[in-house]
Order: sequence, then structure tokens, then C-alpha cells
Amino acid sequence: MIRARILGVGRYLPERVVTNFDLAKMFDTSDEWIQQRTGIVERRFADEGVYCSDLAAHASRQAIQNAGLQLEDIDFLIFATLSPDHHFPGSGVYLQAKLGLSEIGCLDVRNQCTGFLYGLAVADAFVRAGVYKRVLLVGAEVHSSALNFTNAGRDVAVLFGDGAGAVVVGPSEDESRGILTTHLHADGRYAEILKLDIWDISKKPYITETSLTNGDIWPKMIGKEVFKHAVTKIPEVIEAVLKENNLKTTDIDLYIPHQANLRINQFAAHRLGVPQEKFYSNIEAYGNTTAASIPIALSEILEKKIISENNLIVMVSFGSGFTWAASLIRW
Ligand SMILES: CC(C)(COP(=O)(O)OP(=O)(O)OC[C@H]1O[C@@H](n2cnc3c(N)ncnc32)[C@H](O)[C@@H]1OP(=O)(O)O)[C@@H](O)C(=O)NCCC(=O)NCCS
Repeated sequence: MIRARILGVGRYLPERVVTNFDLAKMFDTSDEWIQQRTGIVERRFADEGVYCSDLAAHASRQAIQNAGLQLEDIDFLIFATLSPDHHFPGSGVYLQAKLGLSEIGCLDVRNQCTGFLYGLAVADAFVRAGVYKRVLLVGAEVHSSALNFTNAGRDVAVLFGDGAGAVVVGPSEDESRGILTTHLHADGRYAEILKLDIWDISKKPYITETSLTNGDIWPKMIGKEVFKHAVTKIPEVIEAVLKENNLKTTDIDLYIPHQANLRINQFAAHRLGVPQEKFYSNIEAYGNTTAASIPIALSEILEKKIISENNLIVMVSFGSGFTWAASLIRW
């Protein structure tokens, strides 16, 4: 059987650092409030004129180089984002053109915080089935254009940052190494809990004058509901992937959770009885970068040599939809 594995990883963060103190100059918040509730200290914001596909292009080039490949080796592209360049066409084709990848298929994944893991499951299936050999999977976000930097939007505005992370997925020469299992879940009954209302195709036209002024252009979230479900579903899906593979929590060398909130991840680790240091964290530096957070973390982890060949890792995520997912990998 062909097994798929991650052949290379890359990341890109915009240079502009925005601290909690910078946000506190724009609306009523404080470094203490943000750090206590989320663990975030600073995040990066892209400048005006920068698209999510621009961030993705930087991360993708690094991932391809890290895999020891050339651009022309890539035979399929998957782009996960909740902040696409435009509503259509998808950001995948913009990235394809920016990288100069001619005529390969491009698939856009719109699964918010679990977009990367949903994309990974698709890339894994394509490679295992022998359909494609080198799939570029990128998660990228420009959140900073769609955050409400007033008191009305402060609950959401403090959480998010911009960035991109990319991987190349291809066949593993050693069938014991690679992506072992990915579990994907969703529960659309909770779709209204974290969403952006502005694009409403049931309205004619789909964006009204009222929706431009009544707050619909900003994301809305019931934070406590997100928190409550996240701390239940994250341990649940981790336990399910472990059970399927006859593993215990102690067999895992490193957990790489989506970076939504340090408290959520601490809670989840505690529920599983896993030491906090086994749950990787970099949220202090970047905030929540949604589809980009797991590949950004993975790229840092490899650079710091925190994992090595044959280590077992679990990537896990929860977010808007609700959607949640976990992937077990033997590195
Ligand atoms: C957002 C979150 C940090 C808010 O924490 P919380 O303890 O639930 O806070 P609440 O919403 O109950 O608000 C508590 C108070 O802080 C205030 N507040 C909200 N945002 C604030 C901010 N940025 N700075 C200061 N005060 C703020 C609220 O207005 C409220 O004030 P009140 O008591 O006077 O009404 C928390 O709910 C959370 O982390 N949820 C998960 C969010 C998430 O991860 N989303 C992305 C998922 S992918």
C-alpha cells in the first residue's frame, strides 16, 4: 500500500507586529485581559494591498524547497482559507498563477480552522490512490481586513492574526511512516455561533446598504459556546484516532493543536491527562491564524528539531461550522 507523508513544510508571517498594547490604543482592552483569556501577546498583520494568496506564495515556495522539489514537480494544489482574496474564483487559482504552476488542478477548502486538516485528508487520499504524486497544501489568512477594531468587535479582534503555512504531501518510501489516520467531523447545527453575515445570497442584492452599516461586515462569535464545544471535541477526536490505532496518549511524542486559544488547549491537555509541554504552543506570537496555524506550528517545530523521524504526532483542530478534526502521523 502507498502511504502518504509530508515531504516539506514552509511558513510566512507578515513583518508588521501588532501587540496587545497596540490594540489597547484602538479600543477598551488590555494586555492583561488578552493574555489571561487567550495567551496571545502579539500577532502579525499584513499591509493594505496584500492578499492571502500573496502570503501563501511565500510559504509554498519554502515548503517546495524544503521538500527538495521544484515548482514543476507539484501536480495538484489545495488552498484552505476563510479569508479568500475574492469570493470567487477561489484563492487556489490566484496562487497557481503567482507560482507559475501551469494548468494543474486547484481545489479551495472552506473549513475555517480545520481547513488544513480537511485539506490534508484530501491530499492523503489523492496520494494513496495514486491520483497525484506531489500535492501542495497551503493554509493562509488575512484576517486583519475583516476585524472590527472598536469596542463592539473587541471580543473577536484580539484573537486573530495573519499568516500562511504550507506543506507538500507525497508518497512515503517507508510505508510505516506518514499520515496514519485523519478523522473529520462537522455539526452544522452550530453554524451561527461563529460566522460572517455580510455575504447573504438570499438577499437581492446579496449585500444591502443596511448590512454595510449594521455590523454584518464583521465576524460574530459566541465565545463561550466555542470554548465549551472545543474543550469537549478536541479530546474526543484525539481519543478516537488513538483508539483506532491501538495507541495511548503517552505514545504520542507531540500534539500540534490549532492555535485558537491557549486556555482551550490547556483545558484539552488536562482532560486527556497529557502534560502541557506536549501540546505545542506559539499562539503568544501569532494569535489565531485559522487555516494557517497548524502548518506554521509544524514548520517551527521542524526548524527547532522538536520532532524527529518515526515520532508519533497528532494534529488537532476545532472551529467555525462547527468543524473539528485530528490527524495521526508517524513522522
Ligand atoms: C473570547 C473569549 C476569550 C472571551 O472570554 P470570556 O471569559 O468568555 O469573556 P466574555 O465574553 O464572558 O466577556 C467577559 C467580559 O469581557 C469583556 N470583553 C470582551 N472582549 C474583551 C476584550 N478584548 N478586552 C476587554 N474586555 C473584553 C466583555 O464585554 C465582558 O464584559 P462584561 O462582563 O462587562 O459584559 C472566550 O470566550 C474564548 O476564548 N472563546 C473561544 C474563542 C475562540 O477560540 N474562537 C476561535 C475559534 S477557532
